[in-house]
Order: sequence, then structure tokens, then C-alpha cells
Amino acid sequence: MAAFTELVFSGVQPTGNLHLGNYLGAVKRFVEMQDRDAQCLYCVVDLHAITVWQDPEALRGQIREVTAAFLAAGIDPKRSIVFNQSQVPQHAELAWVFNCVARLGWLNRMTQFKEKAGKDRENASIGLYDYPVLMAADILAYRATHVPVGEDQKQHLELTRDIAQKFNTDFAGSIAAHGHGDAFFPITEPLIGGPAARVMSLRDGTKKMSKSDPSDNSRINLTDDADAIAQKIRRAKTDPEPLPSEVAGLKERPEADNLVGIYAALAGITREEVLRDFGGAQFSAFKPALADLAVTSLAPIAGEMRRLTADPGHIDAVLADGSARAETIAAQTLDAVKDIVGFVRRGPSLQAVR
Ligand code: TRP
Repeated sequence: MAAFTELVFSGVQPTGNLHLGNYLGAVKRFVEMQDRDAQCLYCVVDLHAITVWQDPEALRGQIREVTAAFLAAGIDPKRSIVFNQSQVPQHAELAWVFNCVARLGWLNRMTQFKEKAGKDRENASIGLYDYPVLMAADILAYRATHVPVGEDQKQHLELTRDIAQKFNTDFAGSIAAHGHGDAFFPITEPLIGGPAARVMSLRDGTKKMSKSDPSDNSRINLTDDADAIAQKIRRAKTDPEPLPSEVAGLKERPEADNLVGIYAALAGITREEVLRDFGGAQFSAFKPALADLAVTSLAPIAGEMRRLTADPGHIDAVLADGSARAETIAAQTLDAVKDIVGFVRRGPSLQAVR
């Protein structure tokens, strides 16, 4: 297998309220990945957002808000590349090539499409059906080797691997002839896990924390202030038992498990370590400790997001700079893909347009 340099890519959709689940499952981990010796690219996936209807003015605001959340949480736009997908045309371009590699049978198995399309599948957009192919293009336009994502994206990452594999096999002769050895695309590793891979609703520990839950008390929004955060944790559903001293004791106790997982993820420790301190404690003692931890970790992010969103010009400049840097990488991939597939092109595409 060819050797690929380590490169991290991930994306977040600008489709409304970011909450604790997005923070612990994605953004906080993106920040941690910056300390690896790897280039990181973090993308606001606006092309994915429009696979379902988005009000144009609201969408523009949400793109800036996700960018602000990235920066407020500690993603450094100098070390990492922070950008929005629609400013880098190679994502859509590579998705077309991948549309011709991926098979109908593969896409027909995607469970997220079935959930999102619901009963009225005839009325779903073609973009929603093609969503996982665009996601493969996002990742492989940079030949990314590692993708931190939530548990729910596992199947999409498998599809990305299948597309890379089939491209490498179908075009093996041409890949070698153009000097790319025995594989052009890496087989990307998903990075799923951590204590908060799945953050559940504060009102029902069996349901995912979600921006579409009608009860605002079910989630902690990244824009909530200290009072709102503390109040939502105080009101979180629990059971009457004290916390167990072993992780095994959290089985069949979804609400307790969720709150312990949130504490662990915020503190950067394991569930075991949380229970070492709080095993045997009542929720009346654990909840205030969790509320304090959540407020000290999250309230500064909310404050910084408010400061950043007050200056959209600065956010737009960060996105423009990141998009230009992303494009220089993606353009090289697309030039190579065009050669491999057998297209005729002008020369190095990026220099040609600049
Ligand atoms: N589908 C992802 C989600 O909903 C967002 C996404 C789009 C993404 N493109 C990506 C995540 C590429 C990782 C890599 O969470």
C-alpha cells in the first residue's frame, strides 16, 4: 500500500443550534486533534446543508455561527484550515466523479437517508440521496487519513472507504502510469469514541441530544448562558439511586450513564475516574458539581461566540483564507484525478485561474 501523510478532516453542518452533543462529539475533539503532528481541515459543510430546505438568510448566519463555534472552542485558524465547503469547487467536482464510481446498491443501504427521507421518499431531494458521496469527496479531496466523527457517521465512512477502494482498483493501471504507485486514495480511518461519542437528551437518556427536540430543556445549546446551563442540569432527568462505584453499574441506567459521560468528556477523564470520585454520591451532590464544570467549560465559549458573531467581517475573512488554502490542496488532487480518469486539462488548474 502507498504511504499517505497523516491528514485530519471533519465537517459540521450549518443547520441550526449547535449543542453539547456537537461540542463533545465533534468540536472539542477537533481541538484536541490539532496537537497531533498532522494538518487538520475543519469544514462548514454548507453544500450538505441544502440537501434539505434552508432559508437563505438563516443559512448565512448559521455558517458564520458554526465558524464562530470552531474558533471559540479553540480551533486555531492558523494551524488548522477552517473553511466552508461551497468556496472550494473541488468538493462538488470530485463528487461527480465519485457518483460514477459508487453503485446504486451501496447508496440504497444508507440508513441515514431512509431516516431523513421518512415515508415520503419520492419527495426527497436527489442531493439528500447523494449526500454520502459528497461526504466521500470532502474527505478524499484532501486524501485525508483520519476523520473524527460521531457514531452516527460510521456507515458514511464505510462508504467513503468503499469508494476509495473501488477507484484505486478500477483505475489501478492509470494510477501507476501517472506515478501514484499502487493506490491513489487512502483508506480513511474513522475516529469514533471518547466518553461522549453519543450525548443523550437531558429529558430522556435513550434519545440522542438533538437540535430538533421540541423541549429546549433536553439540550444545552452552545449559546446558553451560565444560568441556563446550570438550570438545565439541575432539571435533568435522573433515577432515585446513588451513583454506582463501577462503570458496570451504569448499565440499564441511561440518564445516570449520560450525565457521568458528560462529566467525563468535559473534564477530559474516563467514566471510571468520575465514579472513583462520585461513586455512592446522590444526584443532589453530583449535579451541582456537573453544573459547575459545565458552566466553567461552556460559558466562556458562549461569550466568545457572541463576541465573534458581532463581527461577521472577521469570520468571513477567516473562511476566505481557509478556503484558499484548502483549494490549493484539493486542486492538486483533482488535477491528478482528471489525469487518472483520462480527461484532457489545461495545465495546473489553480495557477491557471489565478
Ligand atoms: N455528515 C456529517 C454529519 O452530519 C457532516 C459531514 C459532511 C462530514 N462531510 C463530512 C463529517 C466529512 C466528516 C467528514 O455529522
